Amino acid sequence: ADPNRDKQIEAHELTAKLYHHLLMNTKQGQSALAYLRGRGLSDKMIDQFSIGYAPESWDTLAKFLESRKFPLPLMEKGGLLSAKQDGSGYVDRFRGRIMFPIWNRDGKVIAFAGRIMGDGQPKYLNSPESPLFTKSRILYNFNNARPDIRKRRKVVLFEGYMDVIKTWSAGIRNGVATMGTALTDEHAAILARSADEIIICYDGDSAGKAAAMKAIPMFEKAGLVVSVAMLPGNMDPDEAIDAYGPDAFLRDVMDHPVSAVKFKLIYLRKNHMLEEDDGRRKYLLEAAKIVAELESAIDREVYLKELSREFDVSMNTLNQDVNAVRLTNQ
Ligand code: UTP
Ligand code: MN
Ligand code: MN
Ligand code: MN
Ligand code: MN
Repeated sequence: ADPNRDKQIEAHELTAKLYHHLLMNTKQGQSALAYLRGRGLSDKMIDQFSIGYAPESWDTLAKFLESRKFPLPLMEKGGLLSAKQDGSGYVDRFRGRIMFPIWNRDGKVIAFAGRIMGDGQPKYLNSPESPLFTKSRILYNFNNARPDIRKRRKVVLFEGYMDVIKTWSAGIRNGVATMGTALTDEHAAILARSADEIIICYDGDSAGKAAAMKAIPMFEKAGLVVSVAMLPGNMDPDEAIDAYGPDAFLRDVMDHPVSAVKFKLIYLRKNHMLEEDDGRRKYLLEAAKIVAELESAIDREVYLKELSREFDVSMNTLNQDVNAVRLTNQ
């Protein structure tokens, strides 16, 4: 065992306990606790996800870690502390933030995401990349969700920490999120080892939709069957649960994901002026390319029928174009 690694994990575990204690039991934590309750989190959820508070102070954690004899340079490497400019010591890296512990697969705290209360930049301050915290491989909540993912061979991918937490309280036990950094092929491969199917449930804004478009081929390459749960308007799952309640969210969003192809066809619409003949023609040409990717003739027919109806073009014509694309792709 690597002693530095063990020290690092021990420090993160203790820090999570300290931050949680400060949130739940101290005057300093009161406004943070009110903020979390105001966002609809029960004390049970706050406990389940070990959420905490890093006080508005330069040395609360530095003193705590020093008194417990943790080597401070090591703590700086792990991102709990920052080195002072003049080299005279260390200060707390997270100050005045709501703290979300991030766990590795063994359920050990290896990093934090700290959210500012209210507006300000950055909204989330994450621990830096370290040998322990490899953002290209870590998925938030994977340790908690893994049993359910493996049992159902199905995983849900959200964009944000809050989405995972809020949907967990709505009953979703197979939800994970990336670390704010981009999705990687490694993430996809890790999920493909535990699941056969993935539902992408990113934010409903244009950034979320564009990110879903990028994620689809990555998961397909990893061998997962992909569908997309779409949010109304520009909402994210956390906001949709607040707006409509957990039951309506599960029923109207989570229970009706669309296939990857359907999502691509919907997404494609925004680049074309469908009220104009030329826009409709160009849309159909692109749509034919998307449908042509499907291996099954039955699947192709399902989508072509919809296009045929909506755009008043015969199945025969659509099929001709789709088959032409398939021949070129071979
Ligand atoms: P969002 O901006 O959608 O935030 O970023 P959110 O998850 O809805 O957060 P709340 O509900 O306002 O609290 C999605 C994810 O991108 C990463 C985080 O992982 C966040 O959950 N992110 C975002 C960062 O890492 N840093 C940032 O400054 C912003
Ligand atoms: Mn507690
Ligand atoms: Mn977003
Ligand atoms: Mn969001
Ligand atoms: Mn949100």
